Amino acid sequence: MERVIIFDTTLRDGEQAPGATLNLEEKLEIARQLDKLGVDVIEAGFPIASPGDFEAVRLIAEEVKGSSICALAHADAEAVDRAWEAIKKAKRPRVHVFLSSSEIHLTYQLKKGQAEILELACEMVARAKGHVEDVEFSPMDATRTNPEFIYQITEAVIEAGATTVNIPDTVGYTTPEEFSKLISGIFEHVPNIHKAVVSIHCHDDLGLAVANSLTALASGARQVECTINGIGERAGNASLEEIVMALQTRKDFFDLTTNIDTSQIYKTSRLVSELTGFSIPPNKAIVGANAFRHEAGIHQDGIIKEPTTYEIMDARSIGLPSSTLVLGKHSGRHALKARLEELGYGLSEADLDRAFSDFKGLADKKKEVTDRDLESLVAEEMRTISEAYHLEQVQVSCGDQSVPTAMVKLVAPDGQVLADAALGAGPVDAVYQAINRLVGVPNKLIEFSVTSITEGIDAIGEVTIRIESEGRVYTGRGAATDIIVASAKAYMNALNRLLAAKGKE
Ligand code: KIV
Ligand code: ZN
Repeated sequence: MERVIIFDTTLRDGEQAPGATLNLEEKLEIARQLDKLGVDVIEAGFPIASPGDFEAVRLIAEEVKGSSICALAHADAEAVDRAWEAIKKAKRPRVHVFLSSSEIHLTYQLKKGQAEILELACEMVARAKGHVEDVEFSPMDATRTNPEFIYQITEAVIEAGATTVNIPDTVGYTTPEEFSKLISGIFEHVPNIHKAVVSIHCHDDLGLAVANSLTALASGARQVECTINGIGERAGNASLEEIVMALQTRKDFFDLTTNIDTSQIYKTSRLVSELTGFSIPPNKAIVGANAFRHEAGIHQDGIIKEPTTYEIMDARSIGLPSSTLVLGKHSGRHALKARLEELGYGLSEADLDRAFSDFKGLADKKKEVTDRDLESLVAEEMRTISEAYHLEQVQVSCGDQSVPTAMVKLVAPDGQVLADAALGAGPVDAVYQAINRLVGVPNKLIEFSVTSITEGIDAIGEVTIRIESEGRVYTGRGAATDIIVASAKAYMNALNRLLAAKGKE
């Protein structure tokens, strides 16, 4: 069976999704997990974009040694050199150069002709090749480019040293049949194509990213660019977990394999969702909360008799926690540690101490503490690790006959305890006003949602918010059995991200 190279761009294209901004520690944590998942290439960022991006790529290249580490550069000498500078300590470094190829981009954006584009593409690929053996080139907006020009540019960049040629459906415009024809055309019309790997990179504007990627693989492409949970620009990129599980479940059809350890999929998906603040819709294929749940009686009957009647995949193959074991207030530190380890969290003794204290607090409020509760609890711990301001206390008074009032206590970066109170239109507004008085960073709340992570009146409520400041969106999440406390935590999480981003500028 031939192997498909899995190129993950969660940290580059995925992070371009508005509101998905990640800090350095979070990027490193995702990169470590992608390495565990077994992705072949991690596109760690776009080093020329900002000093923060450069530093994240550099640190990932220094630390993560399993996967190849790739840095993106537009077709510009300084960008190519900066990309190389960031990844030069990687065990397997790759530079990825991109340049638009479509008539629309050439006419309206670059104001260049095809001959100039060909020359610049080759020049920049050759420059990257001067630094590193592994060079990828992408003709941006390839699916709206005349195929003849794609053949021409592909041949030229391979001649100049590209070892991978990636065909991006930048605006999510193509369809499976059309894309398959383009990929087959490349194999037919590019004489030196055997010297490079053909890759694809699909966006999901028409909901076709995974279908387009799979047809391209069936037509001979051997690298697929994708992201965890399908996050990315606009409607996102092709989702890694959907492609990998399609290839695995339909081996009979595709006859292709990957290096992915599928048992790490669920954990990776949760981590990315947690750190980006992008919730996973319940009906999302593979990793949605309902993906392996059966409601219809006739389905349940079939499953009891023989799981394969209605299940095409085993939930355990993606590492979905299968245990129905629940912990409660009598469970000890040892039981918590064992359960967390089964869920894939190897906490340090200090982190475990904090998690145990939080667990006891939760078990006092909630009769049964489930796996989802534990995941939420660990996520809450992670959120507070690198925060500037820490929420110490929140207290509200509200009701149909009173003016909503909130008192908030925060610990400032210098360790000082700050306290203030405010009135609001409702209890959450009052809490946010009080926090604003203490932190004083202007922003606008643009989204607020509450979900319950498990069933029952005592369930943990998870609040996700998005705030906007100077044209950028920051996401925050918070979880608690009290939704006002969860709302306050979510706001602090978003504000801390905003402050961290400002500190990097
Ligand atoms: O969508 C796109 O064209 C890209 C390129 C940089 C590969 O993300
Ligand atoms: Zn893209």
